Amino acid sequence: MKELSLNILDIAQNSIAANATCVTIQVCKDTAQNRLTLCIEDDGKGMTEAFVKKVCDPFVTTRTTRKVGMGIPLLKLAAEQAEGTFSIQSEVGKGTKVTATFTLNHIDRLPLGDIGQTMSVLVSCNQTVDFVYIHKADDKTFVFDTKQMRAALGDVPLNDPEVVLWMQEYIKEGILSINGGV
Ligand SMILES: Nc1ncnc2c1ncn2[C@@H]1O[C@H](COP(=O)(O)OP(=O)(O)O)[C@@H](O)[C@H]1O
Ligand SMILES: [Mg+2]
Repeated sequence: MKELSLNILDIAQNSIAANATCVTIQVCKDTAQNRLTLCIEDDGKGMTEAFVKKVCDPFVTTRTTRKVGMGIPLLKLAAEQAEGTFSIQSEVGKGTKVTATFTLNHIDRLPLGDIGQTMSVLVSCNQTVDFVYIHKADDKTFVFDTKQMRAALGDVPLNDPEVVLWMQEYIKEGILSINGGV
């Protein structure tokens, strides 16, 4: 994958497949520590400790259509290539938290990519799931929350084409305004 936003999309899709009702995605840029951190947390069905251990192996998947599960191994690889770290915390019946860190200025650190598009796809294709996107850049924070969106929109659905376009731009601008791009 060429952009971290695509890794985020894949990891968030795991959360949806695990019947999460709320998925929180956090991106944190810390210039002083030269670190970029991604965190995807859900309240889905979780995994056992033994399964978490196996899950970084590209040949482990519960899918029946395809033998090789790659979403987690690919994010782990992306982190390791940028001298970062990767971890999964999970509890059956409670949820899962996937954390990847990257050396911010590492030559092999992938760009973040189009988070506006990733989030608008996730939100518009999963009407029953709530999403929170938190972007921190040093001392500044941008938050996008579908609960607030739903309250503001009333009867207008989150997959309304105009709403989807608006969301995409809003998130893109929000990140740019605090960050200037990562
Ligand atoms: N957030 C999650 N909650 C519960 N199970 C998960 C979660 N993320 C991953 N898994 C489990 O780990 C497996 C491997 O995930 P992944 O590497 O993305 O491959 P794939 O999604 O193609 O199966 C999934 O099939 C699923 O069983
Ligand atoms: Mg997956």
